[in-house]
Amino acid sequence: MNIHESEKIAGILEDMGYSECSDEKDADIIVFNTCCIRDNAEKRALGNIGAVKHLKKENKNLIIAVVGCMTQQEGAGLTLREKYPYVDIVLGTNNLHELENCIVRLRNSKKKSVLIDTNDRPQVREGERVYRTSGTNAWLNIMYGCNNFCTYCIVPYVRGRERSRKMSNIMDEFKRLLDEGYKEITLLGQNVNSYGHDLDDGSSFAGLLSEISKIKGKHRVRFMTSHPKDLNREVIDIIAESPTICNNIHLPIQSGSDKILQLMNRHYTRDYYLETIDAIKAKIPDCGITTDIMVGFPYETEEDFQDTLDIVRRVKYSSAFTFVYSVRRGTKAALMPQIPPEVSKDRITRLIAEQNKITKELSGLYEGKVYEVLCEDKAPKKEGYVCGRTDSGRLVTFKGEDKLIGSFVNVKINKSQSASLFGDIVED
Ligand code: 5AD
Ligand code: SF4
Repeated sequence: MNIHESEKIAGILEDMGYSECSDEKDADIIVFNTCCIRDNAEKRALGNIGAVKHLKKENKNLIIAVVGCMTQQEGAGLTLREKYPYVDIVLGTNNLHELENCIVRLRNSKKKSVLIDTNDRPQVREGERVYRTSGTNAWLNIMYGCNNFCTYCIVPYVRGRERSRKMSNIMDEFKRLLDEGYKEITLLGQNVNSYGHDLDDGSSFAGLLSEISKIKGKHRVRFMTSHPKDLNREVIDIIAESPTICNNIHLPIQSGSDKILQLMNRHYTRDYYLETIDAIKAKIPDCGITTDIMVGFPYETEEDFQDTLDIVRRVKYSSAFTFVYSVRRGTKAALMPQIPPEVSKDRITRLIAEQNKITKELSGLYEGKVYEVLCEDKAPKKEGYVCGRTDSGRLVTFKGEDKLIGSFVNVKINKSQSASLFGDIVED
């Protein structure tokens, strides 16, 4: 989501005549697109903003802008202005379209801008210019915002309520991206399963996926993120039947304990979640299932944590994003009693070790088999090698020339190493 938003920022700048440079010393403008989902993301953003102060001294005309979630937190605009007075432009998440005006105003009359619109149902914008940076994959927003208010999460406060794009606009963009040559399109939303609920025209995520699956051709579709309370059987059936929609579902569990799930306001139980997983596995046997898991949420006991480990062992995720709970000001969980950091640290270490074991075990199952891989890029630090993903989302590295990037190839896996798979191209 953040990467795609940066592509939109770059689109605005490109329209104004700016072009990308590789060294910040050469920049005429630096835009920080911030995230505040966890404390470390926020600290990193502030550290990075602090680190460009000297550039402003060397180049008085350098424009520094700060945008994204962090600016939308209460009082953030003021704090940024006081602590980082060399920042020229601060824009909230609903003010991004004003970037061009702010830059022009600054260039013409040296006026700085802090614009933070707190409307939680801002208008959905269409026709945004995007400067795409993601190679063979293109990101496509289907909706913005979130209505769920999980008690740990800042997103609904900084991104507002759910707003869906009209299906016709999504379909137009989808077809345009295919025409432009993208081989993989990832649909984006905080909670894609509630797509259309706010439109009152009968649109739904299942309806959208079904329309998308009717588009013929050799391409792949992924989507994220699904909320376990809303991922219904209709969607699972569409994925199972469609050759273009990847057998890959990201389904954040957060915790395996019913007590913690309730405190998190997640609106599902571990049994309900496991039933959904069983339905996925029954309909899509080779589905790559990934998740987000948090440890150290308020009131989490060792027993609750054991429930989380138990879910991890039962589901056998192909990979998991694991996080230590981080207090977010203004959320309900911030008012709950916090557990000691050393306890969280110990739990995250054990959780990662457990997941690594499973990832390794699952990787072994790929050995000796042939998979269709969409070649995405050069392999990092491996001359003469390229990499790409299987339909289920697993990364594979194999020998091949750069000209393969953007094409589908069959690869026989001959080695696995924890999360990495290695193979050789085989003829059809
Ligand atoms: N602390 C830690 N992790 C968080 N996430 C969201 N809010 C927090 C928080 N306060 C995690 C959740 C979510 C992912 C995007 O980030 O696991 O699914
Ligand atoms: Fe945050 Fe929950 Fe919304 Fe995801 S569903 S963005 S975790 S509030």
